[in-house]
Amino acid sequence: MNPLNPLRAGLDDERLAPPCAIVIFGASGDLTRRKLVPALYHLQISRMLAPGSAIVGFARKSATDAEFREEQREATMQHARSKPVDPESWSTFESSLFYVQGAFDDASGFERLKSQLERIDATHGTRGNRLFYLATPPEFFGPISRMLASAGLIGDPTDSASFTRVIVEKPFGHDLESSRVLDRALHEVLHESQIYRIDHYLGKEAVQNLLAFRFGNAIFEPLWRRENIDHVQITVAEEIGIEGRGKFYEGAGATRDIIQNHLFQLLMLVAMEPPSAFDADSVRDEKVKVLRALRPMARERISELTARGQYGRGTLGGAPLTAYREEPDVNPDSRTETFAAMRIDIDNWRWQGVPFYIRTGKRLTRRVSEVAVRFKAIPVALFGRSQAETAPNELVLRIQPDEGITLRVAAKQPGSRMLLRDVNMDFRYGTTWGRTSADAYERLILDALLGDATLFARNDEVDESWRYITPILEYWQEMPAPGFPNYSSGTWGPAAAEALVERDGRRWRRP
Ligand SMILES: NC(=O)c1ccc[n+]([C@@H]2O[C@H](COP(=O)([O-])OP(=O)(O)OC[C@H]3O[C@@H](n4cnc5c(N)ncnc54)[C@H](OP(=O)(O)O)[C@@H]3O)[C@@H](O)[C@H]2O)c1
Repeated sequence: MNPLNPLRAGLDDERLAPPCAIVIFGASGDLTRRKLVPALYHLQISRMLAPGSAIVGFARKSATDAEFREEQREATMQHARSKPVDPESWSTFESSLFYVQGAFDDASGFERLKSQLERIDATHGTRGNRLFYLATPPEFFGPISRMLASAGLIGDPTDSASFTRVIVEKPFGHDLESSRVLDRALHEVLHESQIYRIDHYLGKEAVQNLLAFRFGNAIFEPLWRRENIDHVQITVAEEIGIEGRGKFYEGAGATRDIIQNHLFQLLMLVAMEPPSAFDADSVRDEKVKVLRALRPMARERISELTARGQYGRGTLGGAPLTAYREEPDVNPDSRTETFAAMRIDIDNWRWQGVPFYIRTGKRLTRRVSEVAVRFKAIPVALFGRSQAETAPNELVLRIQPDEGITLRVAAKQPGSRMLLRDVNMDFRYGTTWGRTSADAYERLILDALLGDATLFARNDEVDESWRYITPILEYWQEMPAPGFPNYSSGTWGPAAAEALVERDGRRWRRP
């Protein structure tokens, strides 16, 4: 049992964050309303925020504390994971919500913030601990950090009495050069140990379970290599389109939005070597080695090893859907890809010759994120024709929805003859644990408060992922888009994606 708080009896598998003032920049935005404040509320009601923690919203518009609290109450009622929101719990929570008005280039706003934080230290006992959450467009990450430093709000990273940490949102740059510029701007005033680059995929239980599954069991790791695995498929498919975010998506596209960050995080966790310890640097050291071992895609092979697409009109469940180019704020001749697939090769001893096929897209047949590991076929078919109807073993790690793991094996069908069929061995999070998982933002904010950076991206990971992706994006930019739109909404993507795997004698899964 946690000795600090007797109310935590029975919750001793959980962790308690130290008292801290959490400042959200971009507090009038969508992320704050939909994710951050509901996550903080849940951390508070789960008794994982220390009593005395305070949350300060910082944004341009003028508002009082009372107005900010009301706005966030309405948003939390709508977006909280467990509903209804209990009025008494909310009222306790909102007494620690404050608002400071200011623009990111206005020193007086940062002075007001400083005074507010000093008051909070005195009244709440937050002891100078600060977590700054930059929920703003990335062009403000550098300016906000500089303003914080000028106002004397960035503490010494070696100070053991209090901490300053900064969470930065994605996108972290839009290519290698811009991500390096952004990184230099942050490092002007912050030490790497103070920077927490969030990728909400890493906050998902099923993603962390990839590590537990691989390194907490004796039976899988010996199989997890080129001798036994034919190939790996990683899919992040969305059913939705761009949902009114045309302005953002036109400058991003599927590769920047999903592959460079979420999908590469999955790739690293699947392919990494066992770390020497489960701590931030040991885990991230092994992850980044995977990216360093990626075989750079030779320019003349990019069109053969990648496929891009853009959705046209279509139907889903009988309902008509518009084309990407018909969406608001989208150029009617847009070349932005809403689908991307690639074959990736990892040049190391474990994975030489094992292709990783990755794909992501919008307006696909269904929403699903999964890693499918396809094992090699058996060397000799003992059971004749019926065996030919079974497929090689496949292990599917489902990230969302229906989080879980399925292992496909061949088994004897009951009866007098030796007939084999594929059967599934299934593990489902929902039914096994009987409780809903915390939202990824809850887990990640708590980790940042506790100073655990294991599930945050380090600068070398981000740099390596852009180093791989940028030449592909540049090549695509130079080449004409291949007859966009080239897939109908509600399908599994363009024919070029099928050709990408069929060329190697393989097929995409239909999850
Ligand atoms: N929303 C999501 O689900 C989500 C998911 C993953 C990552 N992200 C990332 O999180 C960040 C925030 O996203 P969001 O959806 O919350 O964006 P948003 O709704 O557009 O909010 C952006 C916030 O930044 C403020 N802002 C913008 N320009 C400003 C300026 N010149 N000076 C002062 N404040 C300024 C806005 O204030 P005003 O209200 O005054 O304009 C608002 O508070 C982005 O980097 C986004 O890519 C968002």
